[in-house]
Amino acid sequence: MDVQERKNILVTCGPGLKDYLQAELEGLGFEIVSSHPGSVVTRGSFIDCMKLNLCLRTAYNVLYLLKEFRCGSSESLYKHINKLPWENIISPQEYLCVLSRVDTFSINNTMYPNLKVKDAIVDRLCKKTGSRPDSGPDRNKVVVNLFWKADRAWIYLNTSGVKLSDRNYRKMPHKAPLRESLAAGIIMATGFDGSQDIVLPMCGSGTLAIEAALIAMNKPAGALRNNFGFKHLKVFNKQLWEELRCDVRRTIRKDALRKRIIATDIDEQAIEAARQNARTAGVEHLIEFDVCDFADTELPTGAGIIVMNPEYGLRLGDIEPLEKEYKRIGDFFKQRCTGYTGYLFIGNKDLSAKVGLKASRRMVFYNGNIECRLLKYELYKGTK
Ligand SMILES: C[S@@+](CC[C@H](N)C(=O)[O-])C[C@H]1O[C@@H](n2cnc3c(N)ncnc32)[C@H](O)[C@@H]1O
Repeated sequence: MDVQERKNILVTCGPGLKDYLQAELEGLGFEIVSSHPGSVVTRGSFIDCMKLNLCLRTAYNVLYLLKEFRCGSSESLYKHINKLPWENIISPQEYLCVLSRVDTFSINNTMYPNLKVKDAIVDRLCKKTGSRPDSGPDRNKVVVNLFWKADRAWIYLNTSGVKLSDRNYRKMPHKAPLRESLAAGIIMATGFDGSQDIVLPMCGSGTLAIEAALIAMNKPAGALRNNFGFKHLKVFNKQLWEELRCDVRRTIRKDALRKRIIATDIDEQAIEAARQNARTAGVEHLIEFDVCDFADTELPTGAGIIVMNPEYGLRLGDIEPLEKEYKRIGDFFKQRCTGYTGYLFIGNKDLSAKVGLKASRRMVFYNGNIECRLLKYELYKGTK
């Protein structure tokens, strides 16, 4: 496999994040071939894939296209995949995981094409090298993805392996933490770039604050990960990877921030978890933590950004106390946050009505399968 060959790269993301992913790809100088709910297609080499894995904040997986072909049956699937030179890509000592997404008449169960792809690869390796790799569901070594829609199929090398949203800094998740890629998308949606003060009451395990600090430093999201799918492929070149990491590291802003990042929570254990997670992420020095009720959070004077992710109460009995909490958030925004732009990340529309303020924008995100909104409030004097 030629690591310099430019091919289609399918970058997947969580629902609601594709516009932010597209903006990230454009910011890194990649062309956009097409975008779809849950993915963006760009073009580049295998080496570009390594860079994308290191830098992207809102992506799940970076998939490098090996082959696109017409495919009307599982026999044809086997034949096409068995013809690829897997012996140049995967060592038989590696462990292989196959993932499929199939939408074709003849197949109603993804297990079967998974098995066909796995057999096609393993049989080829066995014929060419005399040994067979182990295979199974673990995504922490070699991962191959099949997409099969009607009579077309695409086979990709999954250069990420485990989802990129697993950044490796959240050793202490605490309660209801946001996925890191979602938190990064929320921070990007606020327009925060490090040149504004940002205040994060109800910070929980600190995900929003940590992602904000990483953005402010321009520190790559993948800097803390040791494992990526591409590292398990024969074409992986350690020296090239180290050079790439050095190049990207040079763009990190190491100087102290001129603006403040403040994260608070009423729960002492949450702040302990957030502090430890920030330490692991290498950004503890940039975040001011405090244990307090959200309404007592210190707000730097002037204009800034305030983002809150209150609980949304999935069980019926939880709602009543939360109604009062959402009303208090509205009062806090009105009375104490004048000059700020406020954001509420909510998963329950009825509760957001209790805030008593008119949102100037509503952005749709998904937290797992819960449809959520990021509500934007312009908190100028006299806001109602
Ligand atoms: C949904 S969690 C936030 C999760 C966070 N975004 C994360 O990624 O870990 C809500 C947080 O609000 C905190 N909280 C609840 N009531 C509060 C209050 N009155 N003042 C401050 N924090 C509060 C809880 O302790 C909890 O950590």
